Amino acid sequence: MAEIKEVGVVGSGQMGSGIAQLAAVGGIDVWLHDTDPDALTRATQSITLSIQRLVSRGHLSQVVGTDALGRLRCTSNLEELRSADVIIEAIVESEVVKKKLFSELDKIAKVSAILASNTSSISITRLAFGTSRPQQVIGMHFMNPPPIMKLVEIVRGADTSDETFTTIKALAERLSKTVICSQDYPGFIVNRILMPMINEAFFTLFTGVATKEDIDTGMKLGTNHPMGPLELADFIGLDVCLSIMKVLHDGLGDSKYAPCPLLVQYVDAGRLGRKRGIGVYNYRKNCYSSNF
Ligand code: NAI
Repeated sequence: MAEIKEVGVVGSGQMGSGIAQLAAVGGIDVWLHDTDPDALTRATQSITLSIQRLVSRGHLSQVVGTDALGRLRCTSNLEELRSADVIIEAIVESEVVKKKLFSELDKIAKVSAILASNTSSISITRLAFGTSRPQQVIGMHFMNPPPIMKLVEIVRGADTSDETFTTIKALAERLSKTVICSQDYPGFIVNRILMPMINEAFFTLFTGVATKEDIDTGMKLGTNHPMGPLELADFIGLDVCLSIMKVLHDGLGDSKYAPCPLLVQYVDAGRLGRKRGIGVYNYRKNCYSSNF
């Protein structure tokens, strides 16, 4: 099994920045890439702050924190990732955009490199199809936020080799994660179950059954969930939730997966959740009161 010394992470949003932090703290050299230079600046700031906080609270030693920051390099040039042993993609949840990236990565990455996707729902087999190395393509689905959440869901495409699976499982375990393994079907395990619940919470709000606060309180206190489904949707990103529902709906062909019109309307209005300061809830101070 190949030793992983360097990881490339593509996409420096909430997931990519968290994965880059996790790998750097785990003693792995990291190249973090994004097409948007502002996203890279935000990622560097949030990783630095997060590591400083871990050090000040005694969760990480100063030596490990400083070492991790030294291992992290940011770039808007994808070619810098050519020496990576594993490249983890964490860009927008769109099959068209991801497929294009995978075919570019296939040309840039060294022959032995594994191409992993953090996709929440998109077919690994289809992402692999546009590359010359389908046996080295795999789903490595971290949960949000990656440095904290214990789970990694590994998804094997139709052609993923045993060696690729073993290497990625070992990498996840080296990063102190518990691994579950899913076949390559829409939404895999976690989002196949979670997203219909979130979508149903939107329908519950849409049809006027209850207020957003009562829906969330009901699910927190009634079922012992740490966050209500609407709060969680804001945390994940409503655009990500909608993309996953569309994948479930298209891929499983059952009307029970049709996205709630209210979820669609929020996304159309740019209310994407915490990352935009407004989603189901309003996180901005002194903001207008909306009709939603
Ligand atoms: P995000 O919107 O926070 O970040 C996406 C980043 O990708 C942005 O910085 C954007 O500039 C960059 N990007 C877009 N196209 C690019 C390209 N062609 N090349 C390089 N960079 C590009 O999104 P988030 O939430 O980090 O999600 C990323 C992926 O992780 C998605 O596939 C999503 O489904 C998955 N995921 C999301 C979770 C969540 O809770 N938000 C949880 C687990 C997986």
